[in-house]
Amino acid sequence: MFFDTHAHLNAEQFNEDYLEVINRALETGVSNIVVVGFDRPTITRAIELAENYEFIYAAVGWHPVDAVDMTDADLEWLKELSAHPKVVALGEMGLDYYWDKSPKEIQKEVFRKQIKLAKQVKLPIIIHNREATADIVEILKEEGAAEVGGIMHCYSGSVEIAQECLEMNFYISLGGPVTFKNAKKPKEVATEIPLDRLLIETDCPYLTPHPFRGKRNEPAYVKLVAEQIAELKGVSVEEVAEATQQNAKRLFGIK
Ligand code: NI
Repeated sequence: MFFDTHAHLNAEQFNEDYLEVINRALETGVSNIVVVGFDRPTITRAIELAENYEFIYAAVGWHPVDAVDMTDADLEWLKELSAHPKVVALGEMGLDYYWDKSPKEIQKEVFRKQIKLAKQVKLPIIIHNREATADIVEILKEEGAAEVGGIMHCYSGSVEIAQECLEMNFYISLGGPVTFKNAKKPKEVATEIPLDRLLIETDCPYLTPHPFRGKRNEPAYVKLVAEQIAELKGVSVEEVAEATQQNAKRLFGIK
């Protein structure tokens, strides 16, 4: 049974056929999905899906690309939602230096505010990092994020930085890129980081694993990620599925 810790079933790419997508996930052995919201519409939809399906949970946060749009009312709304029984984490949040819609200083401020909120409401955080590793690690340290811990989502960095994240009480989540032939770093991370600190995810509809790369991603494909990790570690896919599921349940406080 596979736990997809990061899916955007709330994205418009699934408007037409989300029912079939959910059924394919269940048929493939997906036990749970965390649908991650990152702005007003996607958060609203994540909550809706979590309320409609027992095995779906929601994470709510403000994406760094849109940091410039987050108001105090939005932050207050995140706080209210954090009390919802199906909300298991805050995020995705973090820093994204690839897109330039939001200035770095505003991204950092919005990131810090959400970490402070997570500590207040005692929920783990889901970190989005694009070309901003050093600043993210620094802010996580300065804000004492280890108190709540969380997930380095779709981790693509080095083994050394991953180990630093483990020390800060974070799990390393691997997605589709670990299956790409030229993905040297994710494969090293899958090999070196112990199974009790790894999670699996799709980040669907993005980052589709091999051999479906280029097509829309969906939660059923999380199995391909687990199979790749199993091959790299020389263990069975059942062992990877079981360990990553237990890790996710522990982190999210799911019975
Ligand atoms: Ni995402």
